[in-house]
Amino acid sequence: MFDVKEPAIDTRSIEQEGDFVKINKVDHVEFYVGNAKQATFYWSHLGFKPVAYTGLETGNRRYASWLMEQGKIRILLTSAYDPHDPIAAHCMLHGDGVKVIALEVDDVEQVWSETIERGAVGVHAPNNHVDRNGHLRTAAIQCYGQTLIKFVERKSYQGAFMPTFEAIESPIKVQAAGLQAIDHIVGNVELGKMNEWVEWFHKVLGFRQIVHYDDKVIHTEYSALMSKVMANGNSRIKFPINEPAQGRKKSQIEEYIQFYNGPGVQHLALITGDIIKTVRHLRDQGIEFLRVPDVYYDALPERIGKINESYKDIKELGILADRDDEGYLLQIFTRPIQDRPTVFLEIIQRRGSRGFGVGNFKALFESIEIEQARRGNL
Ligand code: FE2
Repeated sequence: MFDVKEPAIDTRSIEQEGDFVKINKVDHVEFYVGNAKQATFYWSHLGFKPVAYTGLETGNRRYASWLMEQGKIRILLTSAYDPHDPIAAHCMLHGDGVKVIALEVDDVEQVWSETIERGAVGVHAPNNHVDRNGHLRTAAIQCYGQTLIKFVERKSYQGAFMPTFEAIESPIKVQAAGLQAIDHIVGNVELGKMNEWVEWFHKVLGFRQIVHYDDKVIHTEYSALMSKVMANGNSRIKFPINEPAQGRKKSQIEEYIQFYNGPGVQHLALITGDIIKTVRHLRDQGIEFLRVPDVYYDALPERIGKINESYKDIKELGILADRDDEGYLLQIFTRPIQDRPTVFLEIIQRRGSRGFGVGNFKALFESIEIEQARRGNL
């Protein structure tokens, strides 16, 4: 059951092919939600602190946005005031979900013209946002479904986040959960579309494919999926892309696409330096995690070998472990973070391994199927 090995990760430098879109980091991820103010409470339970705000009080008459921060992770929660606003329409169609993956770049103009020339569909051309704190430039291109990739150039901006935002004192008492950075952002696309998007990330953004998991690796008795992982030049930004594969029943990817009404971001993986502490804290805060059957833990010490953490803690908290040639990783997945069975979060700690936990896929997907069956969606 657990004999699946992590495929070798292709670490050759992208430089040979030309790293023509230099991306410094993920700047932020923006969720369009039904009620941003209330969503700040949920994210505060994940250890995120509201640090900046735009809305009626700051002169923004179109929408309210709260910037939530923890470690280097920034999540923007946005709701529209007007029911006819495209933000509201997005929410109506998809439920709460990721609208924008924002990437920080040195030169928006250059990245814009380079990506458009390479076939990207432009959504908004380079735009100057100016206030007394300087100017910030953004541009956006279309990614899978209605998801956007936004480029942000902030070297000439000293304000809280961007114009119209003001820094705020958190009205909520937040205890950090030890989450440090985004490890990867996964997209679900329709059957037969994975390779199109792999090609898109390669052609438009210069990303390279570092891993391929086929449906022989990712399947259960009932359903299957395929996944390819794309990474940028410095391999810091990783975008796995999933598509459903033929199975006897409905795969979790199909369930997502049905409830999200199309492709979109399936999960964000957030890094912690101490997963035991993080998960214990998050469980105390009421965050719900998927749990694999206890039998998983019987074989675990033999499969993974010596680790720094205690297997007792790992079992108690429902954490999963996987090992490859470079080391091991620990990971756990939340239940969907809104009513629709769509977006969820992964908490991950890497101890040498650069993989994605392939040895856990089967056990994990079987427990997802139990949840799908409970929802009447298998
Ligand atoms: Fe993941």
